[in-house]
Parts: sequence; structure tokens; C-alpha cells
Amino acid sequence: LNDAPLGVFDSGLGGLSVVRALWDTLPGESILYFGDTGRFPYGTRSPEVIRRFARQNARFLLSHGAKAVVVACNTASAHALPELAQALSVPVIGVVEPGVDAALAHRGTGNIGLIATAGTVASRAYEQALARKDSEAHMTSIAAPLFVALVEEGWTNTPATRLIAEEYLKVFNNGTFDALILGCTHFPLLRPVLRDVLGAGVALVDGAEATAHATRELLTTKGLLREGAAPEHRFFVSDAPEKFAILGPLFLGKAFNGAEVVAIEDF
Ligand code: DGL
Repeated sequence: LNDAPLGVFDSGLGGLSVVRALWDTLPGESILYFGDTGRFPYGTRSPEVIRRFARQNARFLLSHGAKAVVVACNTASAHALPELAQALSVPVIGVVEPGVDAALAHRGTGNIGLIATAGTVASRAYEQALARKDSEAHMTSIAAPLFVALVEEGWTNTPATRLIAEEYLKVFNNGTFDALILGCTHFPLLRPVLRDVLGAGVALVDGAEATAHATRELLTTKGLLREGAAPEHRFFVSDAPEKFAILGPLFLGKAFNGAEVVAIEDF
């Protein structure tokens, strides 16, 4: 079982930022990735639809023998994690709890910021996780959907991106915030612009990195870590593999072999 791949799914290609972090943290693991590019984006969809998509995505990963499932998509984690954790026969990990833990590592005033999709913000999943861990802390959440479009356009560091970041981040610039959680798969790519706009006082918490560390802990605890021969990675999408192949390296930080197409509605 240890040699089985680690399943990762996302609404599209953004989850590759989580794969990149997993490669850094767990270099021995084989990754089985599914990006739901045909039904992207999830951030504007209703909770019921997101839960149905999440179930299908997870079933697909299990059908390929995944030993655990990482829900790389913040929107899917926010809406579907409890249900998946109950329904699946393998360990499941999402990005919300690790992100909140990482933010609390910078705790000072207890003011934590979140930028995410509209769906993630509406779910209040991050607020609830924060309240469970630290009842004195307080979260301010902003939906920043334009950031997703900017990153998919490759505009990670243009004047337009900076202007939009200044607009979105105004509320976090009053000097009281300990940390800002980048609660969306795409946002780690905007780190340089966000850092410039916010200055050095606010910690930028990368949910992808935090999730990779939490995944290592989970696999260790369950005795599921893989060691030995070189890992093998496979990537699947539900549509438009060309776009995935072009934008993938931006998220992964290196070239990759592209993706195969799967009919996800069959799962
Ligand atoms: N992967 C999604 C997330 O992290 C962002 C894109 C979308 O709206 O699907 O929330």
C-alpha cells in the first residue's frame, strides 16, 4: 500500500501549487493528480454541486488506487471535506485546517486575514476552524476572484495585478493583522505582489505548503510513507489538456509531461 500513489484533486490546474509543495516535502511519493478543468471554476458554484463534484473526483482517484486523498482545492475543502472524510475508505486531508494552523503560528493580536474564492468565504469553513482552535482570534475574509483570472492569464506581476491587489488588500493594511491566509490554490503565485502591497508586517501563509507538511504528518502517522525507487507521477484533467500543459509549469516551477483526459461524470 505504501507504494500506492497519493491522490490529489482540484477544480483545475491551481492544485499544482499543492503538488509543487508536496514534491518539496514528500519527494518519495508518487502523485496521482486530477484537475477538473472541464467544470472549473468551483469558486462560484453552490455547496451541493461542489460536494457532488468532490465525490466524483475522489472516486476517480480511488479507482486508480490512491492510498490517501489530498483535497488541494480550497473551495472543495471548505464545502466537502467532512463528507469526504466520512465516506472514503482512505485518509483525506484538506487545505483549510493546515492553513489556519500555519496562520496561528504567527499569532500576535489574533487578527487573521483570509483571501479566497467567493465560495470559500461564504462557507465560513476557515472561520469555524479558527474558532475551534483559538476562540479569541478573529478572522476577516475577502473574496478575491479576480486573482484567479489574473493568475490563469499569467499576469502574476503586472501593474494591473498590483492595482487590483491594492484594492482587495486595503482592509488588511491597518497594521493589526498577524497573518493573511492565501486560501486559494492560485494565490501563492501572487506572493511577490502581495508582499509589496502589504509590506513586511503581515505573514503570508501559503496553504499549499502548510498542507504538504500536514500530509507528511498524516502519512507518517498512518505508516503510509513511501520510500525507495523513483516516484511516478500521473496527471489527469476533465478537459483542455493543452491549456493545462501550457500553464502547468507556472504552478509547478518546472516542466512536466502534461495530462490525460478522463470522463469524470462516469465516476
Ligand atoms: N481551486 C480553487 C480554490 O482553491 C480556485 C479556483 C476555482 O474557483 O475553482 O478555491
